[in-house]
Amino acid sequence: STPPQEQEEEMAPAPALESLPLETRCPPFPLRQLNGFWLPEITLAAGVPALRARFTPRPTDVLLASFPKSGTTWLKALAFAARNRAAHPPSDPARHPLRRSNPHDLVRFLEVEFALAGGRSAAAAAALGDEFEALPSPRTIATHLPYSLLPERLRSGCRIVYVCRDPKDALVSTWLFTRKAAPAFGADAGGFAFREAFELFCEGRSICGPQWRHVREYWEESVRRPGAVLFLRYEEMLLAPRSSLRKLAEFMGCGFSGEEEEEGGAVDAIVELCSLGELKGAEVNRSGSGKLPIDNEAFFRKGGAGDWRNHMTPEMARRLDRIVDDELRGSGFAF
Ligand code: A3P
Repeated sequence: STPPQEQEEEMAPAPALESLPLETRCPPFPLRQLNGFWLPEITLAAGVPALRARFTPRPTDVLLASFPKSGTTWLKALAFAARNRAAHPPSDPARHPLRRSNPHDLVRFLEVEFALAGGRSAAAAAALGDEFEALPSPRTIATHLPYSLLPERLRSGCRIVYVCRDPKDALVSTWLFTRKAAPAFGADAGGFAFREAFELFCEGRSICGPQWRHVREYWEESVRRPGAVLFLRYEEMLLAPRSSLRKLAEFMGCGFSGEEEEEGGAVDAIVELCSLGELKGAEVNRSGSGKLPIDNEAFFRKGGAGDWRNHMTPEMARRLDRIVDDELRGSGFAF
């Protein structure tokens, strides 16, 4: 049962939304600032309260966490494929669930889905809670929430894998994604210029921003509790996908068993199955959408490191790097 101190925290009333600072210049959502982070209003109004009330973490849960546009989709695919490789052998890609479902439908976002459901009705949020409850253990689930805004039961109640990405690439990816996805949320981001997105991002004003603070919190927790929080970098995963996958599987408690699986090519098969080219090319990701109201196709673009060079001047890049370096000083982490 939940210790009394945590029960108290879980029951603490959320601050009134209208009392929080508002930012309306970051499409597609109005953002509110809580504990220094900018989050969609709907996440604070419906997502986090429903998550607290309707989701019970299990010690066997693995929570995949990230700042948006930092490699979440890839991490979800890798974690799902590794965890379920006995039931769904990666050596048979044609019949693999990743060919029929977008990774976001196989590893689901907690506060995002609770925000959407809670925005519809209390009954929809309750039904979603039941859906999560019905998932067999061990569950793999995901969040974009900053560490400090996770319900205490989640922070202490499960293992966490965090993936971070160079903020310049995360910004570019966010800006392009926003322009594509905004209409699905009834917003128009056609006039949202990169220069404006850049200025706002530098002030920490973006969904889940400031990015560097998001990263720092999870980094520090991974240092404090290395057995409970695994910290990955998108760029390292690009350079060394096999060892990253091995590390991920090991941490999740489903490590690859030496010779047998290595020789059978399981690691290589999963890396290939989850590669950007394979996922992007799958019919399910070329058309249609899943549980999120966004076309599956929008989650797969160019990938890789350094696309920021096509959108930022060297001077802009230096400015953002300086902000991030300053903010990360003393943390032991640097990009
Ligand atoms: P770009 O916009 O730079 O191409 P997220 O999954 O957190 O939303 O992040 C999206 C970014 O990850 C996009 O970056 C997308 O192209 C890239 N991505 C998606 N699937 C990938 C995969 N399987 N391997 C590597 N990168 C991937």
